[in-house]
Amino acid sequence: MRIDKLLSNALGIGRKEIRQSVKKGLVRCNGNVIKDPSVHVDENNDEIVFCGEAVKYREFVYLMLNKPEGYISATYDKKYPVVTDLVPAEYAHFEVFPVGRLDIDTHGLLLLTNDGDLAHRLLSPKSHVPKTYFVESAKPVKEEDIKIFENGIELEADFTTLPAKLEIASDDKTESLVTIYEGKFHQVKRMFEAIDNEVVYLKRISMGGLKLDQALAEGQCRELTAEELDALCAKNN
Ligand code: URA
Repeated sequence: MRIDKLLSNALGIGRKEIRQSVKKGLVRCNGNVIKDPSVHVDENNDEIVFCGEAVKYREFVYLMLNKPEGYISATYDKKYPVVTDLVPAEYAHFEVFPVGRLDIDTHGLLLLTNDGDLAHRLLSPKSHVPKTYFVESAKPVKEEDIKIFENGIELEADFTTLPAKLEIASDDKTESLVTIYEGKFHQVKRMFEAIDNEVVYLKRISMGGLKLDQALAEGQCRELTAEELDALCAKNN
């Protein structure tokens, strides 16, 4: 890879600025000053130093966002703010996109990445990645609703959900945890409609092996740790 491209990607700095720094002798590869920005280096093995600091190249980035309401799960929308508006500028050059969708009024865990293969794997209908939501409902959940969710709910003539888990989470039974294994449009809201109830607040708290960091404020995002990425990539989670 060209050294100016590597530095631009790794540091989020424009190529023009990088080229100027290279020409000023601020870049070293394996201890040698590089003055030609078009020089090719081995991004995996060469030791690159920019202004005295070691540079770590990476192709992909994985961000956990605690999505607030009011944002569309997209990279562009004519009318509403989009979740990528919440990504700090230092990640702009990675061009991340949301992995799947949360409704505009849904809160919580949303993964943003530029790793198309991982996104594809997590979203594939065959993957059945479990997604758990905290739900506040208009009416108390009934014991028999647990069985109805367990049996799967017919949402469309040709679509019945996989068995889903409904756990009551408050004494007044208006708070619950729901785990589903697909990601149909408005799925949790429609499942509650099917039991003659209504979702009034919805927050995703986990996706596969990845759990929402409770310390992450709404609207904030941070990179996944290596352990979180492993947990997300692990099969059968
Ligand atoms: N189910 C819904 O109804 N909405 C979401 O945003 C996610 C799951």
